[in-house]
Amino acid sequence: MPRRSRSDSDATTKTPMSTKSGRKRIRRIAINTGGGDAPGLNAVIRAVTIGAVHRGWEVVGIRDGYNGLLMPDEYPDGGLIPLNLASVRGITHLGGTILGTTNKGNPLEFPVLQKDGSYKTIDRSGEIVRACRKNKIDAVVAIGGDGSLSIANALCEKGLRIVGVPKTIDNDLSETVATFGFDSAVSFATECLDRLHSTAEAHRRIMVVEVMGRYAGWIALNAGVSGTADAILIPEIPYDIDIVARKTAERVRQGKKFSIVVVAEGAKPKGGSRSVLEREVGRAERLGGIGETVARQLQEITGQESRHVVLGHLQRGGSPTTFDRLLSLRFGAAAIRALEEGQNGVMVALDPPTVRYVPLKKATRRMKVVPLDCDTILTARDLGITFGD
Ligand code: F6P
Repeated sequence: MPRRSRSDSDATTKTPMSTKSGRKRIRRIAINTGGGDAPGLNAVIRAVTIGAVHRGWEVVGIRDGYNGLLMPDEYPDGGLIPLNLASVRGITHLGGTILGTTNKGNPLEFPVLQKDGSYKTIDRSGEIVRACRKNKIDAVVAIGGDGSLSIANALCEKGLRIVGVPKTIDNDLSETVATFGFDSAVSFATECLDRLHSTAEAHRRIMVVEVMGRYAGWIALNAGVSGTADAILIPEIPYDIDIVARKTAERVRQGKKFSIVVVAEGAKPKGGSRSVLEREVGRAERLGGIGETVARQLQEITGQESRHVVLGHLQRGGSPTTFDRLLSLRFGAAAIRALEEGQNGVMVALDPPTVRYVPLKKATRRMKVVPLDCDTILTARDLGITFGD
């Protein structure tokens, strides 16, 4: 299980600069969307903007992660988009982010090309804090996954007042029952599995479906069970391909002449490693290829024709589901309440029936991977689904 630094206190921090009331008055806030996009980002932006405007605060959106602050000259508008009630009208249901995002050039490890063609990485977080001061930004609402929230934590430690909002289709953030984007991705993947059943059955094939999930198999597990897959391969359970092949062969013997296998991009065989497509300085390694490998191996072992499908970025596109819209609006509104209450360095977190605040340090310390004894795993096993173990 991937872990992050553990040196820190869990105490919720209050904003350090204060007036008579104990907190610095907010006049202007900025919103940042970082990392891979997820359905619901625009709904968060809308709720944050409306909540801020109603409190008399000005709002700006930072373009493309923090690039709008780090490279203002690259943008005709100086990298900051003024946000008001008109500019966030009618965006709740839209996928993507009206601010743009990036998962390249982590400001904590910003890649700089050297004369010899190699890269060295530098920490540019201080520049972001200074740019916020220069632009009279009193606080930032940072919407992102583990990487973006770790950056938010570092910015907070450098003196920036910041509240995080948990986003990721992978659902791998601890300390929140759910991240927004996950439900939309699972719903889409489940619909794809439904569609693949009929073509798999018509051709008597094994269909292998690769879904996202780098370190955590939540999408594969939830979509696989809901979409009645026969095998689900997730990063948390290294698989044995022969066990998966036995399952598909057994189905053929029983007269069920097709099988559906769901595999998370980060799944790995027993004793093997994850399938990496590309490594690049300043960003997470690109995964992919495991679906193709599994389909090829199953065809070789069983002799049954096999095909693979990679759902890829389709899982991140499109409108948020009702669950994700509501969650995003709740998170956005809670982020503004947090700032108003003087919270700093916290992430809003779903803890039904409420949304609470968790220190960013704690929220980014470890990943929420699938517990092997969780009810959904037990349910899958009871339904006869194999994990290849
Ligand atoms: O948001 C996380 C994620 O969906 C991962 O599951 C996946 O590995 C990654 O994004 C892909 O990101 P991109 O191809 O856009 O860099």
